Amino acid sequence: MFITFEGGEGSGKSTQINLLSKFLLSNLYKVFVTREPGGSVGAETIRQLLVTGNPNRWDAHTEALLMYAARRDNFIRIIKPKLSEGNIVISDRFSDSTKVYQGYVGGVSDANIDLLHKFSLDDFYPDLTFYLDLDVTKGLERANSRKSNEKRFESKGLEFHENIRKSYLKLASDEPLRIYIIDASKSISKIHNEITKVVEKFLTKNT
Ligand code: TMP
Repeated sequence: MFITFEGGEGSGKSTQINLLSKFLLSNLYKVFVTREPGGSVGAETIRQLLVTGNPNRWDAHTEALLMYAARRDNFIRIIKPKLSEGNIVISDRFSDSTKVYQGYVGGVSDANIDLLHKFSLDDFYPDLTFYLDLDVTKGLERANSRKSNEKRFESKGLEFHENIRKSYLKLASDEPLRIYIIDASKSISKIHNEITKVVEKFLTKNT
C-alpha cells in the first residue's frame, strides 16, 4: 500500500505521518516513510536545487523535469523495493504536488505532466492520499517560523499559495475516491483519528 500526504506549506504533514507510522508499527505492519522531492540519495541532491535559492531560479517546466528526475530515482531505488518487501510506504508529497505546483499553478499542461509521469513511473500512483487543508496565512506563519534555508517555495508570495490551496481542493474534488480532504485546523489527535479510520478501512478492504 502506498499512502501520500499533500498540503500547502506548514499544514502539519510530517506530524501526521509520524503519528500514522507509529500507529501502523504498533499494529505490526512494516512501514517505510519517504519524502519528495528527496528520499533517495540522488533525489536529495536534486532537492537542494529545488528548495533553496531565488524563487525565480527555475521556471515551472524546469521544476517539473527536476521533480520527476528526483521522483524516478526515489521510486526505483526506494519506493518500489520497499513495497516489494511488504512495507506500507508513506510519502510526504508525491505526484499530486507536481500537478498542483507546476501544473495548475505553474502552467504546465496536464497532458505534459501525464507524459512525464508515464515516462518516469509508468502507471504507478498512490493508493490513498490525504490532503491537509489549512488557511494559507496560518500555514505560512508556521513554515516561516522554522529555522531552515529551504524557503524557495515559501517565498513565492500569498497569492501563489492561495492558488495552491484552490488547486488542491479542485484536484481532491476530481478524485474523491483516492484523495481525502482533512481539515488541518483541527487538533493533532482529532486529525490523527480521522486518518487512522480511513487507513484501517482501506486495509480491511484490501488485505
Ligand atoms: P516540503 O517543504 O513539503 O518538503 O516540500 C518542498 C517544496 O517543494 C514545497 O514547497 C512544495 C514543492 N514541490 C513542488 O513544487 N512540486 C513537487 O512535485 C513536490 C514533490 C514538491
